[in-house]
Amino acid sequence: MKTVLTGIKPTGDVHLGNLLGAIRPAIEMSESTDYDRSLYFIADAHALTSVRDPKAFKQYVYEIAATWIALGLDTRKSVFFKQSDVKEVFELSWLLNCMTPKGDMNRAHSYKDRVQKNEEEKRDPDHGVNMGLYSYPVLMAADILLYDTNFVPVGKDQIQHVEIARSIAQRCNEYFGEGTLIEPQEVIQQSGSYVPGLDGRKMSKSYGNVIPLWGTEKKLRKTIMKITTDSSPPEAPKDPDNCTIMELYRLFASSEQVSELEERYRAGIGWGHAKEALYIAVNEYLRLPREKFNHLMSNTHEIDQILEDGAQRARMVAKDTMSRVRSRMTGF
Ligand code: TRP
Repeated sequence: MKTVLTGIKPTGDVHLGNLLGAIRPAIEMSESTDYDRSLYFIADAHALTSVRDPKAFKQYVYEIAATWIALGLDTRKSVFFKQSDVKEVFELSWLLNCMTPKGDMNRAHSYKDRVQKNEEEKRDPDHGVNMGLYSYPVLMAADILLYDTNFVPVGKDQIQHVEIARSIAQRCNEYFGEGTLIEPQEVIQQSGSYVPGLDGRKMSKSYGNVIPLWGTEKKLRKTIMKITTDSSPPEAPKDPDNCTIMELYRLFASSEQVSELEERYRAGIGWGHAKEALYIAVNEYLRLPREKFNHLMSNTHEIDQILEDGAQRARMVAKDTMSRVRSRMTGF
């Protein structure tokens, strides 16, 4: 039995970088026959380490769920659920907390970065650090270990978290016997991890250079027209290999369409026309998902139903793992 699992943080304003860097590869993975079981969940409990607005929070959860469904995650094949709907994760998290050396948490990147920033700004080192943030990696280990996960597709920034999960599993296996917990392996997502933003730097909310996934066609077009270009005149031949518009176009258009636009570059194309071609390709890609997304957002009970069905299936796995782990660790 090979299980693949990943958690998705509910953040607002999903953009093309998220789609190409994380969502599309994960959906492809869920369709791969290399795995027997795939679980995808919305890490709502993790988001609570920073979110303080319940209304916005609920909206984020719905938006991210609708995004994955609209983009084609098959929720009958994959188990798609909300982390906090499976209460076993909080029980396991406590048991794992009791098996985790505090020093390991002191060394976790996200906490360390925060402390360093506080020190640089001459504040108390623990300023703004709540216990949820501090023990974030333990809850994440519980997410992974609860479902006997073998493989965890993640971005580079999450490798250390999977390593911590593996080391907690190893420690439990040493104390309570082999097979208490499955030791997970990270799978680093390479393809599509670099998506350029409007200014040519990596597309990221912190750079303010993103192309949002949802919104009207008009807004999409307007955003794409903001891509930075040089001031060469329309008739000047252009290099298709060194251009943000072309880089994005390749991620959405067919290979024939790509060769065609490359030809137009070499012959000389106005930037406005190149952007128009990109807009048409992205819009074509997003047209049906956008309809589905909008439908789900105005019928959130459909999302509730899908997530509840997923939670039921996830609980069946979670209950088995918990009775094994509880009995090994506590005798009960
Ligand atoms: N920490 C992950 C992130 O910030 C989200 C996450 C929570 C996760 N639990 C997980 C990822 C379990 C993989 C496995 O993106």
